[in-house]
Amino acid sequence: MSSLIKKIIVANLFFFTSICCNNKTHEHTHSKKQTSSLKNTFHNDFFIGAAINQNQILGQDSMAKLLLKKEFNSITSENNLKWMYIEPSPNNFNFVISDKFVALGEKNNMYIVGHTLVWHSQIADYMNEITDSVRMANYMESHIRALVGRYKNRIHSWDVVNEALNEDGSLRESIFYSLLGEEYIENAFRLAAEVDPKAELTYNDYNLCKPSKREGVIKLVQNIQKNGAKIDAVGIQAHWNLNDPPLDEIEKTILAFSKLGVKVMFTELDVSVLPNPWELEGVDENQNFQQFEGNTKMNPYPLKLPDSIQVQLTKRYEQIFALFLKHQEKISRVTFWGISDKQSWLNNWPIKGRTNYPLLFDREYQKKDAYMGIINQKKQTQF
Ligand code: G3I
Repeated sequence: MSSLIKKIIVANLFFFTSICCNNKTHEHTHSKKQTSSLKNTFHNDFFIGAAINQNQILGQDSMAKLLLKKEFNSITSENNLKWMYIEPSPNNFNFVISDKFVALGEKNNMYIVGHTLVWHSQIADYMNEITDSVRMANYMESHIRALVGRYKNRIHSWDVVNEALNEDGSLRESIFYSLLGEEYIENAFRLAAEVDPKAELTYNDYNLCKPSKREGVIKLVQNIQKNGAKIDAVGIQAHWNLNDPPLDEIEKTILAFSKLGVKVMFTELDVSVLPNPWELEGVDENQNFQQFEGNTKMNPYPLKLPDSIQVQLTKRYEQIFALFLKHQEKISRVTFWGISDKQSWLNNWPIKGRTNYPLLFDREYQKKDAYMGIINQKKQTQF
């Protein structure tokens, strides 16, 4: 075969492979120079996102700013789009920070996630005083219309309803449920779809790898679908630790949700390395954990993550990403709940003032071993 013909075949093969491999790729992620980074490594698999706080939205955290741009192609606002901040009093919206959040995502060509429209927590005080269902329905509707409308075609994905379920899969007695009944969920989805038909609409919750709660989500999604409302995805928050949830339960969850015909997303990934107080004898999950503040046993690594734990964390992240890659065609996004260990919410929950190490970048914004660990998982699939 002449070298010219060989070149033509190779060129065609390259063209064909690029098209095939990019069939999941969103136009927002296209980058000309494929330098090594999380977003480039998983470019053909899923979006790689980060939740960002107010300082980061305002560009006041210069190291985070660099990492965000280099490593991630999706952003979620960690707190600033929540009801108490964005609508602190009825129909009085404060879009100052959220406008900057969306502008930041657009400037960097990112997949922008709105967190969250309807959630019982971090609501404004006036919401707790409502006792009349018509008023509550009106507030919910005007809130959804205002946020989704303002960012129509700009926020690509909304966590429409967040954490509506109890651990046994039943519906949580939130202010929304108690005043509006079960229908508030499909109504929220219906409204969001009406205002921005192109937006990706998600139900988001934690502990979904536990069978009872997973079953609850399956029913919830089927109910929305049966009643003809639009739901595009389930967000598995993924606030995990070194051993829990087991990998086989994560896999069952991916398969179960994907069978419903919706996208599966890991929306708030972090891996805690610290003990949980409720694992101690005689302590339950509903207790006040203030008594453990300053307790050295509950904060065992205040200065440095020991090598042995770093190894466990790396292995855990490798196993998690090996599983995500195995099911990459079902998974559309993996978002870390923060950029570096320094700002993680897990330094203050469930006990305040601890030193946790749940993310891929340390307190100096340096890559931890888990970073290379997950990149290597991808490399291994390419041979
Ligand atoms: O803004 C105030 C500040 O003015 C004050 O000085 C400071 C003193 O504590 O508090 C600041 O507010 C804190 C807020 O985060 C912003 O930093 C709140 O106390 C704190 O409770 C709040 O925590 C957030 C939490 O949601 C609230 O429920 C975390 O940052 C945020 O990571 C966390 O995110 C949730 C998701 O929305 C839903 N899924 C679970 C996830 C983790 O809980």
